[in-house]
Parts: sequence; structure tokens; C-alpha cells
Amino acid sequence: MMARTPVIEVRNISKYFGSVIALNGVSMDLYPGEVMCLLGDNGAGKSTLIKILSGVHKPGEGEYFVDGQQADFHSPRDALDRGIATVYQDLAMIPLMSVSRNFFLGSEPTTGWGPFRRLNIAFADEVARAELAKMGIDIRDPSQPVGTLSGGERQSVAIARAVYFGARVLILDEPTAALGVKQAGTVLRYIAQSRARGIAVIFITHNPHHAYAVGDRFTILKRGRTFGTFTKDELGREEMVRMMSGADELDAMRHELEEFAREDKAMHEEKASVMDQQLADSL
Ligand SMILES: Nc1ncnc2c1ncn2[C@@H]1O[C@H](COP(=O)(O)OP(=O)(O)OP(=O)(O)O)[C@@H](O)[C@H]1O
Ligand SMILES: [Mg+2]
Repeated sequence: MMARTPVIEVRNISKYFGSVIALNGVSMDLYPGEVMCLLGDNGAGKSTLIKILSGVHKPGEGEYFVDGQQADFHSPRDALDRGIATVYQDLAMIPLMSVSRNFFLGSEPTTGWGPFRRLNIAFADEVARAELAKMGIDIRDPSQPVGTLSGGERQSVAIARAVYFGARVLILDEPTAALGVKQAGTVLRYIAQSRARGIAVIFITHNPHHAYAVGDRFTILKRGRTFGTFTKDELGREEMVRMMSGADELDAMRHELEEFAREDKAMHEEKASVMDQQLADSL
């Protein structure tokens, strides 16, 4: 693994929004055929990092390499042209349009020429059906509106679309967050399938079980800094759950609550003794 060139590498990336330091000296690399889980609390900088990778933001400081060459993206289109596709949680899909129309949104296949040029619906339907089938999703009717699919199936259409249009890097920002157990399973299976095809996947999730199920390596962010990248062996499941759930904060909070309880008790006891005294005095 070490001898290969990472498909993506960032070195000492920082990003400021006014006075907010969203990322502070983050380094990370990503290789073909691996699933990298990007973990961390709310506001840790996960979305900011992948927005830099996908050309939405420019890094404030630091370097970004794609296939070992300096990348200078000015838009998501630039990243897409290098095979870096991002699927956001709020998917850019049109619910009333068919599965296959959504699959080809922005890259519609046509047939005929000049004034006779029209959308090649048969081709779109066939490809959409076949691509989804490859990933184990059976869409009976590709002409059904995408709005009738489940959340998990919709995510799957978005991922299949990215893969079909040549994604080498697939970035998924919390694709399982709003899904039930079965639908999340569908998306996780899809991630594993993409890896099997040699695609490099960055998977953002708040769910340690989802991360552990498909992740090869784990990068943990906290308040814009990285704790580093760990393999599954280096980072046990318990350790990961602890780091992700902000267990340290919970610990601190517990101490604080215990302190409150103690003060409360002391205050009550003091009050009680004063009342005892008053009672004794009145007798
Ligand atoms: N466009 C922006 N303008 C100003 N501040 C921003 C912007 N984008 C992100 N931030 C700030 O940067 C920090 C990191 O945000 P980011 O969205 O990267 O976190 P995250 O790890 O994705 O969190 P979550 O798990 O809640 O999605 C936060 O403090 C956030 O408020
Ligand atoms: Mg986010």
C-alpha cells in the first residue's frame, strides 16, 4: 500500500470562515479500493474537508494532491472531471421525474440528429436498471418517479449514477443518517461494492456501527484538528465508539452533575440544620 500513489492527499490543510477555524492543519491520504471513514462531532470540520476535496471550497492554507499532482479546483465540475464525485445528504434529485431521468440528470443521452434529436428514453431506462442491478438493487420500473423510492434507494441511485459516470473517488456525507436499519444496510452494501470495484470511498457518519461495518481506515476530527488516521486493527471498536460519542465530554459532564448534586445536598443539609435550630429555639 505504501508504494502506491494516493488518489487523494491533503497536507496541513487549514480553512477559516471569518474568525471561525473550521480546519487547522489537517493531513490525510486516500488509496484506491479503500473505505476511509471521516468521523467526529458536530462542527468538527468533516463537511468542510470534503467540500475542499470536491472543489466547493478552496483551502486557506496547505496542499491538495490528486494522483500525486497538485490540484487547483475552482468548482465541483473541476473535481468531477478528475473523477471525484460527492453525494450529499440532501440529494440533487427531482422527485417527480423518473429514476432513469434522474440517473442521467445533466448528461441526458439523446438519439437522432438536428430537429429529430430527442431523449433516448429506452437507453436511459436500460442503463439505469442495469447499473442499479449491478449493485443489487432491483428497480422494477425505471420510469417510476424517484419520489416513490425509499431514502436508501434514492441514495443508491445517486451513488450508482456517480459510479456509472466514472467516479474514482466517491465522497458520501452522512448517507445513512436519515435511514432505517434496512435502508442503511443497502447503502453500506453499496459502499462495499464500490470498494470492490477499486473506487476510493470517503464515508462520513455519526454511527460507529456503520463506520465499523465498512471502514478500512478511520480519520478522526475534533474541532478542526485531526487525531490522525487509524486502521481497524489500531482502533478497536470500543475505542472508536468512545472517541465518536464524545465520551470524554460525557465524563466531564457527569463530574459536573455530581458536583451540583453535592452542592445541592450540602445546601439542603444546611437549611435543614437551620430549621432544626429554629425549631429548637421555638420550643
Ligand atoms: N460556510 C461557512 N461559513 C461560516 N462558518 C462555517 C461555514 N461552513 C462551516 N462553518 C463552520 O465551520 C465549522 C465546521 O463545520 P462543518 O460543517 O465542517 O462540521 P461537520 O464536522 O461537518 O459537522 P456536522 O457533523 O454537524 O455536519 C463549524 O463551526 C461551522 O459552523
Ligand atoms: Mg457536516
